[in-house]
Amino acid sequence: MITNFYMPTRVVAGQGALATAGALARDLKMTRVLVVSDQVISRQSFHREAVDALTDANIKVDRFDECGIDARCSHIDSEGERVRREGIDGVVCIGGGSVMCTGKGIAIVATNNKPMAECTGVGKFDRKALPMIMVPTTAGSGSEVSQWTIVKDEERHLKLLGGGPLSFPDAAILDPVTLRSLPMHVAALPAVDALTHGVEAYFSSIGSPITDALALAAVRLQFRSLRASINSDDERAREDNLVASCMANIACGNARLGHGHALSLPLEGHLDMPHPIGVGVLLPHVVTFNLAVLSDKVKPLAGEPFTSPRMALSFRARLRLPLRGEFSFACAHLDG
Ligand SMILES: [Fe+2]
Repeated sequence: MITNFYMPTRVVAGQGALATAGALARDLKMTRVLVVSDQVISRQSFHREAVDALTDANIKVDRFDECGIDARCSHIDSEGERVRREGIDGVVCIGGGSVMCTGKGIAIVATNNKPMAECTGVGKFDRKALPMIMVPTTAGSGSEVSQWTIVKDEERHLKLLGGGPLSFPDAAILDPVTLRSLPMHVAALPAVDALTHGVEAYFSSIGSPITDALALAAVRLQFRSLRASINSDDERAREDNLVASCMANIACGNARLGHGHALSLPLEGHLDMPHPIGVGVLLPHVVTFNLAVLSDKVKPLAGEPFTSPRMALSFRARLRLPLRGEFSFACAHLDG
């Protein structure tokens, strides 16, 4: 089998990495950027630090702070039109998965001059998206290194995926300062998504030695760092957690995802269910299915906690994460 590995995003990681935002933007020839965020993140001191780094590099900053729990097509279309009309030449996203998906959608719509709904699917647009810099503020979605954006079509109650090689972010800044003030609940949920990316990438039938290595290293690093990342002031653990999430998405970006994500997206659209809840509840079932048919691949993993069919629940218990209510909610819909 011929395999392909492609990941063009520059990744800058470590304490203090946020200060490089201005230099990165200059490298990408940005002169005026739209900083995409939400109402909570835009009040954080690290958001101000990133904006200051951009303005210190003589880059004009416009803002869109209205992102919500999903990346909404209506937001993307109106901001994409504004970006095109006002000659904004770069997008900087500071936030979690929905913020990064919103910004990615805006960057796509701005150059392709058609609504986001017409850009969903694989390779449904033919112009490169505007240059993008991603600053993830949760360790979960890995959208900072992904060509894909997941958007909510509010009118049809659908979650849709769009993207292609023309919509990879140009740079990602992984600075542990962005995780410092996260409430435990907000920090824990995305971790389930990142875990799912690593596990599904490892079990993918089109994986390669490169993606297997990344996926396994990501899951192991996440298990080692997550608890301290959430429950203590350990900056190194937060950095490791961000890097693990990023690695898991690089793995699944090339090996693709599995049944957990395939089954979760329509449920999320219909039930307004957060993405990590959907994939987290489905993952034990996917692991059980894969263990039955991929025994050779599982052998090297003897003793790894994520090979348990009840892995998602044991993951919560092991890390003492406050997910019982959310999983109960999802189980009532999916298992009931
Ligand atoms: Fe995901």
